[in-house]
Amino acid sequence: MNCTIDIKREGNSVIAHLPFNPKLEFGIPKGSIFVKCIINGTQFKSRLMSKGNGRFFLFFSKQLIKHLNLKEEENLNVSLDIELDHEDNESIAEPELLENETLKIIRERASIRSFTDKEISNAVIDTILNAGLCAPSAKNKRPFHFVITQNKEQMKQITEISHYAKMLESAAACIIVCGDKIMQCIPEWLLEDCSAATQNLLLAIQSLGLGGVWCGVKQSSDFYKDIVNEFNLPNHIRPIALIAFGYTQEKKVQPNRHEINKIHRETW
Ligand SMILES: Cc1cc2nc3c(=O)[nH]c(=O)nc-3n(C[C@H](O)[C@H](O)[C@H](O)COP(=O)(O)O)c2cc1C
Repeated sequence: MNCTIDIKREGNSVIAHLPFNPKLEFGIPKGSIFVKCIINGTQFKSRLMSKGNGRFFLFFSKQLIKHLNLKEEENLNVSLDIELDHEDNESIAEPELLENETLKIIRERASIRSFTDKEISNAVIDTILNAGLCAPSAKNKRPFHFVITQNKEQMKQITEISHYAKMLESAAACIIVCGDKIMQCIPEWLLEDCSAATQNLLLAIQSLGLGGVWCGVKQSSDFYKDIVNEFNLPNHIRPIALIAFGYTQEKKVQPNRHEINKIHRETW
């Protein structure tokens, strides 16, 4: 749908109230509402923030504000295209794709957040960790370290720190993917190396019939600091991701994600 909104500053934030009730408009009686928007040709995705009584607003990130060229103290009256962000596999034409075991695992991998009580054998754990260690890294510095725990008490401790890691309540194990800042001193590369390792770990987890989820550890967040303390990480070691995993309680079927508009041939 299309509507007009006023983008304005409220305290330190830049927001825009929606002139309609998205719960009614999009037929979402409860839970979070994720939307896809276009303003002046710029696309972005967002979770709507509630102010109660059916009043919702959009929050604008610093990058988006900069891109829209919104100046200090300026209110901007703009046209907004907004629709529910749901993965609509019907509308995506799937090209003819080749299939093999690896590609099947890549396509089927899904974030799993609830797990059974079944314990994980050492052979399975070692196989998963080995996959992480096989990741590519800039200049082959291999700065990744993995802290693994199957200690329920320790995992419970982390759930008390971050509500984003609540799934650890039922997880059988957790890996903290860490990067050595001395070994890889370019921060972007450290992040990229450890992200490659994280994805390898997740794909190995999926391929062995388990499920897992990647939880981001934002630098200098409380979550970051608490992980450093909980796992005794030395100063030069940066926690980058937490993976909660185990045998899955939920079954997830991934939609077709072949978004053709994300592919740019020869030039953007
Ligand atoms: C950098 C990063 C941080 C993430 N952090 C969290 C998190 O804190 N909690 C969570 O439940 N999922 C987290 N996720 C998982 C995403 O929510 C998930 O990948 C996304 O919704 C797509 O779903 P899928 O993994 O099933 O394809 C994170 C994923 C990435 C890549």
